[in-house]
Amino acid sequence: MDTSHNYGGEDEQLLFFKRAVEAARNGICITNPRMADNPIVYVNDAFLEFTGYKCEQVLGRNCRFLQRDDRDQFALESIREALRLETSITTVLRNYRRDGSLFWNELTLSPVHDQSGRLINFVGVQNDISARKDAEKRVSEFYSVISHELRTPLTSINSALSVIADGSAGKTNAQVMRMVEIALENSERLVRLISDILDWKKIESGKFKLNKTYACPEAILDRLITSVQPLSNSARVQLLKEVQTNSEVYLDVDRTLQILTNLVDNAIKFSPADNIVTIRVELRNADTVRFSVVDKGPGIPKDQITKLFKVFQQLDSSDSRRTGGTGLGLSISRSLVELHGGQIGVESGIGKGSMFWFEIYSKFESEVN
Ligand SMILES: Cc1cc2nc3c(=O)[nH]c(=O)nc-3n(C[C@H](O)[C@H](O)[C@H](O)COP(=O)(O)O)c2cc1C
Repeated sequence: MDTSHNYGGEDEQLLFFKRAVEAARNGICITNPRMADNPIVYVNDAFLEFTGYKCEQVLGRNCRFLQRDDRDQFALESIREALRLETSITTVLRNYRRDGSLFWNELTLSPVHDQSGRLINFVGVQNDISARKDAEKRVSEFYSVISHELRTPLTSINSALSVIADGSAGKTNAQVMRMVEIALENSERLVRLISDILDWKKIESGKFKLNKTYACPEAILDRLITSVQPLSNSARVQLLKEVQTNSEVYLDVDRTLQILTNLVDNAIKFSPADNIVTIRVELRNADTVRFSVVDKGPGIPKDQITKLFKVFQQLDSSDSRRTGGTGLGLSISRSLVELHGGQIGVESGIGKGSMFWFEIYSKFESEVN
């Protein structure tokens, strides 16, 4: 873009850009990749302020000195790759100020090319996001403390109620029994909500690990049907199993069951009585298995479909009361599918029912290639 006519002559233009870079509140640093080890040739005041260094202490050094000995960082590999390919990248690193204190650096790197396309510099824009990271950490700790503190007493309330409800504690009159059943239903709903929150936090923090094994798709569906049968019986909804593949798949069975249970629970809850919910498993191709759950419920309006897999989204607030959902189930399912390297989706229309499906890349790592 020719900006010369806007800002006067070349000198004036240079001054204009220099002032802007100096005034920026983000750290800005320019390196010279044509010199040995890509040293810093310019930093602005904001960079010096938040790192605590003086200009002469940073010029001529590679920016890695900000990492000190903390070199085992996931982000570094992607930075090396971006520098090699001369592309832009935004990533977050642990860096250390001159006084040794840690700060989280959200760094955006871009190559600078001259008119002939030759690489002449890299420019880095640094943003100290420590306050945001601290806040995220506090929120996350708050969630796990709350969840754990709630789960223990709730589990004992829940088991006491179950003992009364199944008659093991002796005979109870019908009216009391009804109240116990309602209390049990609600405590189970709370237990579900808490375990959803714990799962979601674990997934969000990247600590969630899949435990993949070989499994037979039909056996997965059989386990699923056994566990959701009580719900389908009480809703008078019939479950139909369609197994279109016998090939063993490689996936985390418990997590696959968690996704399927969530989809089938929803399908049952939204199906009118005396209807069928079909649970299908098929191979999409040699490496990908597809599970689908098809219902003949009311269907989902188009404008609501995009909201479905987002956290704490229920289609309208009356749904949660009607179905007892937490609003986390589908977003957890999506994350679990993505952890498997797969995708999840839905096909639906008003009056046409819904088909929720997910596909999982199910090949054993060493079989790839
Ligand atoms: C313009 C530019 C700015 C950079 N800014 C930082 C930074 O603020 N903090 C940091 O830890 N690394 C920064 N780096 C990355 C390091 O210089 C280095 O590329 C990285 O540590 C990976 O390479 P290495 O394995 O040689 O250390 C920057 C790199 C460039 C080119």
